[in-house]
Amino acid sequence: MRIRRQDYHDIERIIEFDFVRATEAAALNSLQWLGRGEKEKADAAACDAIRGMFDLMNICGEVVIGEGIKDDAPGIFKGEQLGKWMPGAPAFDIALDPIDGTTNISKGMPNSIACIAAASPEEGVKVALRDVPSFYMMKLSYGPAVSRAMQIAGIDTIKLESPIEEILLSVAKALNKRVQDVVVMMLDRPRHKTMTAEIRRVGASLRMISDGDIAAAIGPAIAESGIDIYLGIGGAPEAVLAAAALKCLGGDMQCKMWPRDDNERAQLIADGHEKDLGRVFFADDLANGKNIIFCATGISDSALLRGVKTQGSNTITHSILMRAKSKTVRFIRASHDLQNKTIRLRSDSREHSI
Ligand code: FBP
Repeated sequence: MRIRRQDYHDIERIIEFDFVRATEAAALNSLQWLGRGEKEKADAAACDAIRGMFDLMNICGEVVIGEGIKDDAPGIFKGEQLGKWMPGAPAFDIALDPIDGTTNISKGMPNSIACIAAASPEEGVKVALRDVPSFYMMKLSYGPAVSRAMQIAGIDTIKLESPIEEILLSVAKALNKRVQDVVVMMLDRPRHKTMTAEIRRVGASLRMISDGDIAAAIGPAIAESGIDIYLGIGGAPEAVLAAAALKCLGGDMQCKMWPRDDNERAQLIADGHEKDLGRVFFADDLANGKNIIFCATGISDSALLRGVKTQGSNTITHSILMRAKSKTVRFIRASHDLQNKTIRLRSDSREHSI
């Protein structure tokens, strides 16, 4: 006699592997656009594969944070429903970036990933993944060693709003390093001119990236990344995705809304966000509660993950999958047999070879 269908008490344990299948599919399907100068086509390919994978998943998923407003590409935006939406299926709030680093992909450059954060309903948690209304946030992220030093040793000077020198010296102290050995990652942007000059004056080691600050902000929480802190102004949706990952890894993040100009500031105030303009959000404020899953697959190499590589008749993907509840962190190296592997695409509801 067959055993009755199990009533899983912890549904995330089952579903999480399908989330990673979705980021793998996004990475595999966008790879054809690496270096081809077509960032929107790469994005469309990633979205098609993510939607196709979700079409197979028995969940009621709602996108609460989609691609940033700057992407007027055929992206996955807030409000979209993902999954089969069968009555009684588990509900998930979803934040995703089918490709963080679309320009990198179009130029064949490193530092692009596909990633998803998802949260299932939890008592006491009203909004698990916060949809921050500003376009950019000022961000500072660090790994578990710095977080612990802040909690245990009382190193409380690591504050987003402190002068850069103070931040760098405190991080050096927390990590028991010389300041010149503290590695800072930052997006290479004109808006960071003063900050970069200050980092160089203090003597810390700067690593600039052209795009893709989700992987960069998570980097400090990954021992092998070689990055100690991520600092600078980048997209607000990207901050929430990084916060979800940092929570699972025991790192943390401090962020503040960074309006681009007076018009954006005035709009945020008009929309009732004045109070939050001065607020420093920690990872837990952006990704709240324990029922959070984060996964990402590397498309091109980054501080977080290696990119997709083809070896003979197999294509290899590298992914990370983790949960805030258990803090189990899985690095998944998957070998996809090119003879057999297929990806389901939403565009024609069919399986495609890669
Ligand atoms: P896209 O992949 O959506 O183009 O985003 C790349 C990115 O570098 C993000 O990682 C980062 O948060 C944001 O753009 C920075 O924005 P900007 O390019 O406007 O400085």
